[in-house]
Amino acid sequence: MSSPIKASQGAPYSRILGVGGARGNRVVDNAEMCTIIDSSDEWIQQRTGIIERRWVDDEQDVLTLAIEAARKAVERSGVATDQIDSVLVSSVSNTRRFPSLAVQVASALGLPDPAATDLQAACAGFCYGVSLADSMVRTGSAHHVLVVGVEVLSQQTNFADRSTAFLFGDGAGAVVIGPSDTPGVGPAVWGSAVDTGEIIHSDDFAAAAAEGVNPRIHMDGHQVFRWATGFIVEKTAEILEAAGLAPEDLDVFIPHQANNRITDAMLRRLKLPESVVVSRDIKHMGNASAASVPIAMEALLESGEAKSGDNALIIGFGAGLVYAGQVVVLP
Ligand code: UT7
Repeated sequence: MSSPIKASQGAPYSRILGVGGARGNRVVDNAEMCTIIDSSDEWIQQRTGIIERRWVDDEQDVLTLAIEAARKAVERSGVATDQIDSVLVSSVSNTRRFPSLAVQVASALGLPDPAATDLQAACAGFCYGVSLADSMVRTGSAHHVLVVGVEVLSQQTNFADRSTAFLFGDGAGAVVIGPSDTPGVGPAVWGSAVDTGEIIHSDDFAAAAAEGVNPRIHMDGHQVFRWATGFIVEKTAEILEAAGLAPEDLDVFIPHQANNRITDAMLRRLKLPESVVVSRDIKHMGNASAASVPIAMEALLESGEAKSGDNALIIGFGAGLVYAGQVVVLP
């Protein structure tokens, strides 16, 4: 049956056109962390790879970080601000329910009338945003999408729990995704493990407010670790297959920066050639949830370890539990 509705149609493919990042200004090394929790530099490094993490200073917050990263991504993309017609911000750190961070970022950058909304998929949020942006560009619902992942986790950390308190960092990463003649974003492998909501959860906002504290993150690290080194490792291999690539076709691997031991488990399964550049940004950043993948991407490009045009496998996983990943061509 024919329909009178005119459907939108977009570009054949999409790709990342520019990436930007912003890190908390305050460097908190393991020695300083061990003045807060009962631990040691040696234990933290052995169990996670973290040497230091970045926290916001008094001049920074979730919005300033998001704006800084977004501005850099837009400048580097070469796309004029009036051509960016959609903004997706993934975060679990907005301290207000509304207005959305997306609308505030759009306003700060002077974007005229973009579709703007926040996403919440915790540590997988950036990769969720990349997949949505790819679909938007290819279906024609947007031409250029600004995707931001931003977190201030230091203000949600449960310092009474020494098994998680040393993990978290503050930062933002952003990309602009636009039309391309060749494939620049592979198929998303994404999903959610239902009935696992309490494994990583935040305090109820109203209950925390009644106690006079910020809602804090609670995580059963051990359970998450087992999920990540089993199920998520298999999903990482699926991402490569979904993109139609063999391990030797990959140039760069940027997994969510949750724990270097999880990255090692992924590498054992993927059997990537030695030449593949692997992000270990966690060493100096900690785990910055939705920001971890794009910040790490920026760092590898800035250091020259990765280059424009490289194929990179990205994956995020965390609270929900949820996960998402795809192969992308670096800008
Ligand atoms: O971003 C979202 C996704 N998140 C993740 O992927 C996180 C996944 N989980 C992890 O990375 C790890 O579970 C952690 C790094 C969070 C914890 O490492 P673990 O090896 O799972 O440690 P654990 O909590 O099982 O504790 C092992 C031992 C315990 O001692 P016993 O019972 O074996 O004697 C703890 O009491 O280490 C002890 N411990 C510590 N010792 C020194 C726990 N925390 C500390 C600490 N310093 N900070």
